[in-house]
Amino acid sequence: MRVRPSSGLRGRVRVPGDKSISHRAALLGALGEGTTRIDGFLESEDCLATLQCLSLLGTSVRRLAPGSYEIHGRGRDGFEEPLDVLDCGNSGTTMRLLIGILASQPVFSVLTGDGSLRGRPMGRVIEPLREMGARIYGRAGDTKAPLAVLGASCLQGKTHRLPVASAQVKSALLLAGLRSKGVTAVTEPARSRNHTEVMLQQLGVPVRVDGLTVAVEGGILPRGGEISVPGDISSAAYLMVAAAILPDSDITIANVGINSTRAGIIHALLSMGADLQIEPLPGKGEPKANIRIRTSPLRGTEIGGPIVPTLIDELPVIAAAAAFAEGTTVVRDAAELRVKECDRITAMAQELGRLGVDIKETADGWVIRGGASLSGGRVSGRGDHRVVMALTVLGLAMSSPVEIEQAEAVSISFPDFAATLRELGAEIEERATDLRDPQAT
Ligand code: S3P
Repeated sequence: MRVRPSSGLRGRVRVPGDKSISHRAALLGALGEGTTRIDGFLESEDCLATLQCLSLLGTSVRRLAPGSYEIHGRGRDGFEEPLDVLDCGNSGTTMRLLIGILASQPVFSVLTGDGSLRGRPMGRVIEPLREMGARIYGRAGDTKAPLAVLGASCLQGKTHRLPVASAQVKSALLLAGLRSKGVTAVTEPARSRNHTEVMLQQLGVPVRVDGLTVAVEGGILPRGGEISVPGDISSAAYLMVAAAILPDSDITIANVGINSTRAGIIHALLSMGADLQIEPLPGKGEPKANIRIRTSPLRGTEIGGPIVPTLIDELPVIAAAAAFAEGTTVVRDAAELRVKECDRITAMAQELGRLGVDIKETADGWVIRGGASLSGGRVSGRGDHRVVMALTVLGLAMSSPVEIEQAEAVSISFPDFAATLRELGAEIEERATDLRDPQAT
């Protein structure tokens, strides 16, 4: 991706459907009873991997129109034993939620993914599931994929206390709990995104929420329903920061999900002095809003504590914003970034450093001093969609062009990212990698 200095982003755009909600809509629709209609489904590589796995598990998935799907729930019959390996691609949500679902269905399955996913920690889901009676085996002492799941027809509900806030782990346990005996409860150290809880309730499964503990009782499956997926605030965040830092910009992003467990980016940008207007939209289910953002001078901020899980996927672009803010930005309590699609703490520190940003890596975040003199150049997106998008935003605000390698990873969550930025007036070119080029990575 070649990014040129740009300014004056203007217009009204939509971002694609929320990735977390799209995964859950497909998974809950498939394991529930009856038919589920999904609109606004994110047709990106991650969510298509989920649909592919569900098809292999015998689920009928019909695409009615772009982003519109009809899923026929397997319900009490459960999933069919897959004839092939379930390939979760790059998607941690697909793998972790499926492990929970498959642990409590009487089928044998093998799950794998790309090089990044095979390196990510799965013990955090496997261990608590084993305490419920699950049989799951894998590489590296049963902590990494490929994984074999010898599903059981009924697990034993249990109360879990998670060492880190993780919506993927919480969701995996709750989904296993739907087919377990008794109550499955999960307590987190801080609140992570609650889309699973919201959707279960929407589809008729009672969920008890008490402070940082959520619980389900086994035996009640979701029933079919209609799910409208709002725009992804994590994708919107990258456009929001671009408009905040590029001179003379004024953009509106329509129909963005603003669930409070995801909305940390709004608070972070406001604390940096961003000019943001949120216009809430009426409707049931997940809360949505139109978000308008105009250029304004930014100042450094401190981010740490319970806000971190609510903006975890937006931290790379907050680092880009911090490079253009006056003063110092400190991000702490974000060690989870080290086990995302890549080690995002090191990746961002090294790649921003190459462009001249004054950024220091710490064990659990960064210290970034804004206002350093920056120069264009060549950086690597490390095959991580959020790193690519953060580097793109930063590149647009520089005085000379930036070239981003391994940028095709944007298709994981926001396939039209460059096109959307171009629509707003940014100058970006995408170039296919020539595999014969020895420089190509
Ligand atoms: C997600 C949860 C978060 C987030 C990821 C999506 C989800 O991961 O970073 O992009 O859909 O539940 P963790 O559960 O590992 O915190």
